[in-house]
Amino acid sequence: MPHIVVVGSINMDLVTVAPRFPAPGETLLGHRFLSAHGGKGGNQAVAATRLGAEVHMVGAVGDDAFAQQLCEGLQQEGVDISHVVRIDDCSSGTASITVAGGENEIVVVPGANAQLQPSHVAKAQHLIAGADAVLVQMEIPLETVEATLRMAHAQRVPVILNPAPAQRLPTEWLQLARYITPNQHELAILLGADADEDFRSLMRRTPCPVVLTHGAEGAWFREQGEPQHQAGFAVEAVDSTGAGDTFNAAFAVFLQEGLPAAVRKACAAAALSVTHLGARGGMPRPIELDTLLARQHA
Ligand code: RIB
Ligand code: NA
Repeated sequence: MPHIVVVGSINMDLVTVAPRFPAPGETLLGHRFLSAHGGKGGNQAVAATRLGAEVHMVGAVGDDAFAQQLCEGLQQEGVDISHVVRIDDCSSGTASITVAGGENEIVVVPGANAQLQPSHVAKAQHLIAGADAVLVQMEIPLETVEATLRMAHAQRVPVILNPAPAQRLPTEWLQLARYITPNQHELAILLGADADEDFRSLMRRTPCPVVLTHGAEGAWFREQGEPQHQAGFAVEAVDSTGAGDTFNAAFAVFLQEGLPAAVRKACAAAALSVTHLGARGGMPRPIELDTLLARQHA
């Protein structure tokens, strides 16, 4: 089983299911509410664990009631949380999410995630050195993202940068990543490009290998040469929250099988994740993944 280190955010998701998205100033009656464990880092850690990886999480929670619940949630899934720190006088990260028609709108308040420092990554150096892959996203301070990229690169451990939410990053940082995994919109922001530039042309001038997620249509990937396409897996969408996280986790878990195989499995895992409500609802175990993969082959 691969060893994976995830450096990233941990949030409590406050999820409202509504018939549609409200307009500014409008009050709408929703169908359902639930609180669910989330955060891109925590989600990726859980998805990778469910797929059979041994996962260490580097992250931060606050000193509120959510902190304990979030840590227990990760532990129950089998994620090692010995490098999840508690920050005093701070709220845990939260995400207020509205789900309507299988799509979502999210407002994240980082809280303790904003206090995750390069020094916390440095303390996990031995874990990073021994990992098969490192996953990092951008709901934590950029200097911590940079420290993670530099450390993994220096140890020759492949680091996957999921640039979400996107910001423009220096070219040199991208060159430290083994892969970046943006969607179309995120890739344009990351490169400081026009939003209407064709994503294939953006991929060709990305200074590192790129795997571009394309929602229900699957993904595009490029190591060099022309971008290649992997078709999506048809499922009934309930909630797309966490689909990108499931994609990234599966991609990291199956990376040793080569790029095309890892992208195909990542697309299948992400498809399964959208069939259930909540970021972590629907994240598959190997048997569910294998069933979907066999079906699309037949
Ligand atoms: O990627 C999905 C996640 O983004 C949610 O769980 C929410 O916490 C936000 O961080
Ligand atoms: Na889900």
